[in-house]
Amino acid sequence: MNKRIVQLTEKHVAGTYGRFPIALVKGKGSTVWDKSGKSYTDFVSGLAVDNLGHCHPAVVSAIKKQAEKLIHVSNLYHIEPQSQLAEKLTSLSFADKIFFCNSGTEAIESAIKLARKYFFDQGQPRRTEIITMHNSFHGRTMGSLSATAQKKFHVGFKPLLPGFKYIPFNDLQAAQKAINEKTCAILVEPLQGEGGVNIPDPSYIKGLKKLCKKNGVLLIFDEVQTGFGRTGKLFAYELYKTTPDIMTLAKALGGGVAIGALAATNRVMKSFVPGSHAATFGGNPLACSAALATLKVVAGKNFLNRTNKTGIYFLKRLQEIVRTNPIAKEARGVGMFLALELNESGSNIVIDCMKQGFLINCIQQNVLRFIPPLIISRKEIDALISVLSKSLSKLNNK
Ligand SMILES: Cc1ncc(COP(=O)(O)O)c(C=O)c1O
Repeated sequence: MNKRIVQLTEKHVAGTYGRFPIALVKGKGSTVWDKSGKSYTDFVSGLAVDNLGHCHPAVVSAIKKQAEKLIHVSNLYHIEPQSQLAEKLTSLSFADKIFFCNSGTEAIESAIKLARKYFFDQGQPRRTEIITMHNSFHGRTMGSLSATAQKKFHVGFKPLLPGFKYIPFNDLQAAQKAINEKTCAILVEPLQGEGGVNIPDPSYIKGLKKLCKKNGVLLIFDEVQTGFGRTGKLFAYELYKTTPDIMTLAKALGGGVAIGALAATNRVMKSFVPGSHAATFGGNPLACSAALATLKVVAGKNFLNRTNKTGIYFLKRLQEIVRTNPIAKEARGVGMFLALELNESGSNIVIDCMKQGFLINCIQQNVLRFIPPLIISRKEIDALISVLSKSLSKLNNK
């Protein structure tokens, strides 16, 4: 039953993903079903998108209601759910103003443009360079790809855009050395996602902020993956008690509906004026209604308390695996942003878990990443840990 869909995809869809041979057709909470009716507990969440789980009733209801009223109009006019979502996002974050777009990469493109335009407006048009970190991931369009300091993503796409300088992550001295009169911004993921679930020293992000302030450089946090409760805080910057000037958002914002956003202080966002930047679908009524419903739940009382407690439990269980299995090297992470680094490739483990009804993801070849819905239960975690331990032991005994 999956086979027909797999064949159609392989024949007609661009081969940009190495897809597993199952087609997911239904989801509820932390569970998804494939076309043959087999169920899976989902520790991938559409890559950190389905933070509330699949088809959360509040999100489904908001989408249905909005779809019957108004799906799309131009940003030439005011859009009610967009204005409400902007108000909510600014009330919950450091930001004063929001620009809406449709994806993470688009949010990054917007951040690059805003940072440059800010200095242009300040009479410093030569300040255009943006410092980014090794192992970062910011997206696939040419600007965000050029910002992404991982060579493997650049192969075949050169020339990259000029104006990016790469330095090691979690190295304040390197940042200090890299800043010069051309620097307009430092762009950093507060915790690196695709690069391996890399957690910096607690003082690093605060140190970057100090450096930026001292040198008059803008600080941009890419929270596309870490935003909306993924790390146990609504935004990961709260972990460091440090705010940026600009923040990029997407993924979990729309509860599964495509939406991206750029959040910034008034001082910076005032450089975006009519004609500076735009997105036809940005802030459309449907996506904003879905996002409003999602945010109401994620930012609701006690929701993230539970996520944090379950996250601590999950990490402990992963640490047990490290203690008992020589293939497991390190367990790390915070909230529901967790990883198990292996001493060898994790691709067979991913397939083995999938066969046994668990979706997990492997990055950087040997890092198993766990980014389940934030509502995942201890029972579901225990079930995964049991399968994972057996799967790793099999590999160990080979
Ligand atoms: C930190 C970060 N920034 C940007 C992106 C790009 O987002 P999108 O795939 O929505 O373009 C991603 C995607 O994984 C990401 O993890």
